[in-house]
Amino acid sequence: MPTTSVFAPAKINLSLHVIGQRTDGYHLLDSLVAFAPVGDMVSFAPGRGLSLRVSGPEAAGVPVDRSNLVLRAAELAGGSDLAFHLHKALPAASGIGGGSSDAAAVLRGLGAALDPEALTRLGADIAMCLTPHSQRVQGIGEHCARVQLPPLPALLVNPRIEVATPAIFKALSQKTNAPMPAQLPQFNEARACIDWLATQRNDLQAPAIAQAPQIGALLDVLAALPGCHLARMSGSGATCFALFSTQSDLQSAEAKLRATHPQCWIASGVLGDQTELARPSACH
Ligand code: C5P
Repeated sequence: MPTTSVFAPAKINLSLHVIGQRTDGYHLLDSLVAFAPVGDMVSFAPGRGLSLRVSGPEAAGVPVDRSNLVLRAAELAGGSDLAFHLHKALPAASGIGGGSSDAAAVLRGLGAALDPEALTRLGADIAMCLTPHSQRVQGIGEHCARVQLPPLPALLVNPRIEVATPAIFKALSQKTNAPMPAQLPQFNEARACIDWLATQRNDLQAPAIAQAPQIGALLDVLAALPGCHLARMSGSGATCFALFSTQSDLQSAEAKLRATHPQCWIASGVLGDQTELARPSACH
């Protein structure tokens, strides 16, 4: 029986501007998003009913019932009689879209075409994860427009704190902040792109640090790594990223951080287009 496997890459909010709020409470965003070659793996094969098994280094505490977005996405796509296996490598509730990317992987694997509004009802980040390339995301996550970014060597670090997204949005004192420029600059190389990103923001970073000061401490550590040009939090946290202009700077920084911060979840890779990596593959 064929098993289909789909890679679910980590999504990184290089910037995340909160520019307003809808009447239903959801926040309007203007965010530049890129994907990492680091992620979960969703596999499925014919089964009886819908079932889910979870394994991998980050499997602890991940639900296997219908509260898991894998099964909810499968249901929404009309899938039935499928046995799913989720290999969890991304920490849960950590601002890098693990659950959303898993759900998007299910939809890619099943070849389901759902409208972005329905997807945002399942999870605001799912629409962007359906197309794992660099993009500008607006609305509450349903408007996704591809952008070209140079490959960005990045270190991803989670301080092992779970952050509740609704609480961080709620704690945001200013809901109407400036968007990114209407026309984004074009960049050919990493350093210029990172220098421009440094002029942008993650508006959720300050409220997240107020709730979990360890995030601020981690960002200070990342910013002080040799070769780091920008350290910022992704999504509502707590995962932070550090950007470098070369892979060798990234490798040295990663070795250093692994030695000093063994308690953290650490991953690295070049942010960019993960479309090929995330294409469903079948094996018998
Ligand atoms: O859709 P998702 O489950 O990722 O969102 C979690 C929560 O984060 C929402 O219930 C909402 O409180 C908040 N949120 C928001 N505006 C967004 C995305 C999420 O207020 N654009």
